[in-house]
Parts: sequence; structure tokens; C-alpha cells
Amino acid sequence: MSETLRLLPDAAGIARAAEIVQAGGLVAMPTETVYGLAADATSPGAVARIYAAKGRPRINPLIVHLPGIGAARPLARLSPAAEALAAAFWPGPLTLVLPLVPGHGLAPAVTAGLPTVALRVPAHPVARALIEAAGRPLAAPSANPSGLVSPTTADHVLEGLSGRIEAVIDAGSCPVGIESTILALTDGGARLLRPGGISPETIREKTGIEVLPPDGETIAAPGMLRSHYAPQARLRLDVTAPSSGAVHVGFGPEHPGELTLSAEGDLAEAARNLFAVLRAADRLAAARGAEITVAPIPRRGIGLAINDRLARAAAPREASGG
Ligand code: TXA
Ligand code: MG
Repeated sequence: MSETLRLLPDAAGIARAAEIVQAGGLVAMPTETVYGLAADATSPGAVARIYAAKGRPRINPLIVHLPGIGAARPLARLSPAAEALAAAFWPGPLTLVLPLVPGHGLAPAVTAGLPTVALRVPAHPVARALIEAAGRPLAAPSANPSGLVSPTTADHVLEGLSGRIEAVIDAGSCPVGIESTILALTDGGARLLRPGGISPETIREKTGIEVLPPDGETIAAPGMLRSHYAPQARLRLDVTAPSSGAVHVGFGPEHPGELTLSAEGDLAEAARNLFAVLRAADRLAAARGAEITVAPIPRRGIGLAINDRLARAAAPREASGG
């Protein structure tokens, strides 16, 4: 295919992006979490192209992006807990895995043949405008080659997928910076499949719902393999005394580094910076033949999601997807 277009996030850019999606093409769109690679979720051909562009294993299902809760009801069964979670957090960085209903109309590959579907209503105005203009549900995984670091800028998207997708809408950096929290609402409770932009503490405070921990026995979200977000360099975590030569990523005033996730020790800022800092650290480490070390990050609030992504980035490599 030809060169990937960089579109402005204005009315003309969104109209062009909607035409591309309606014709079965691929457009990377900004969301509040990370850039997503969007395509028509009702078109088998368009969905097949997402898997091909990312090199994503076909067992790893996609999140369907919707304009609001009204668009969720024809696709999935919302339990009272699901209704409460959607009312509290949509639009926003929460994905709900729910039982599919008959006649949903989604391409089977979206759910990788599972009886459930992951639904999300993004908060970013550009994502919302594209979903509205396209007039259909959009399947959108993070807009990176499978297994690599998620993109939080249009430049990151192009580094990985230039020439493999029709367009990217460039709206600058993503304000949350880390992917959505995924909850499965299929077995009575709300089980955490992936920590993300909304913490279990916040979910409890706003809805009274107690989030169950991931069940360690199965990989419940098929994409959550241990190695992921993988930089080229070796990465070590919870390092308080960096060795000379290493590219050290700091956090907070007590643990400065050559790079830092947040000089002030602010977890929201650290989440926003995480993927861009990992990319920068990887470039420095490659130039120097060094390893990357990262200071300890508290495991509260969005720090849970930051530690999850760092642990996957540090894990030994294996086949991966997402
Ligand atoms: O913030 C986000 O969620 C971003 C933006 C673009 O919306 N999207 C994103 O998509 O992170 P992706 O494909 O990189 O991660 C989706 C995760 C995968 O781990 C996948 O296995 C899981 O969601 N998933 C999707 N459908 C599922 C289902 N029916 N059951 C369990 N897990 C599911
Ligand atoms: Mg991903």
C-alpha cells in the first residue's frame, strides 16, 4: 500500500478518516489512553487487516469502541454491575468484557471466537468524533506492532506501522498514557483482567464494587502474555542504586535518573510519560550497549498499571500479542 497519511484532528481530517474506515481501511486514532488502530468492527475484511498490520496472533481478541452505553446493549448483556460501572466511568479508560448477545453483527474475528466481547467508550474528543462520523462500532487494538511498546503519539504510530495503515490522526500526546483497565463481568463479580487507567481503589470508591484480582491459573485476557511492551535492551526493575553505564529511569526526588518518569513523583505524570520514556531509554541503551534500570514505583492507584507494564517489559521474551 501507499504512504500513510497524517491527518489533522479537525473536521476535514475526521471526515477523511471516517471515509477510510467505511471503505474497510485502517486509521490510527488518538484515545485518552494510547493510540488505537481503528477499523469497522462489523467488516470481516477490515478486522482481518488489523491482525495483519500488527502481526497479531488471531487468538487475541480486540476491544470494540462505541459512542455510548446505548450502543453497547445490542452487542452484549449488561448485568446490573456492568450498568453501574458504565454509568460511573464511560466515557473513560474502562473496558468491560461482557457476554455477547445473538445478532450482534460484529465480525467473528473481533472476539477471536469467544462468547464474550470487550467494550469501551473512549473519552478523547477525536476518538469520539471518528466513532460518530463512521457510524459503526470500531475495533481498535493499540496501534503498535504486536508485542512492542504502545504508542502515545502519532510519531510512535508511524515508527511501527508506517506504510501498513492508511492514516493516523495526529492529536498530540495521549493524556492518560496507559491502556484502559479491563474488567470481566461474566462470572458474577468484576474480575481484573488488566490494570489500567482507572484503579481498583477508584472503582470501589465510585461504585462500591470490589474488583476481584486476576485469577492466576489462566491467561484470562488472551493478550496478557507475560512478555510484552518489550524494548530491545534488558530491563531491570526496582533498582535503587543504578550501576554506572546503565540507562537509569528515575521516579520522584529521591530516585533521580538519566531519564525520569516523574521528577516530582507524580503517578499520573509517570503513566503519561511511561511509553515515551521506555522508547527513549531503549534508544540510549542501544547506542551504548547498556541495560535499562528503573527506580521503584509505588503500587497504588495508577501505579499498579505502571508496574504491570514494566514487569511485562522486563519479562523474558516469548510469543506475544497486543
Ligand atoms: O486503552 C485501551 O484499551 C487501548 C485503546 C486503543 O482503546 N486498546 C488496547 O487494545 O489496549 P489491545 O488490543 O492492545 O488490548 C486489548 C486487550 C488484549 O489483552 C485482549 O486479549 C483483551 O483486551 N481482550 C479483548 N477482548 C477480550 C475478551 N472477549 N475476553 C478477554 N480479554 C479480551
Ligand atoms: Mg496492545
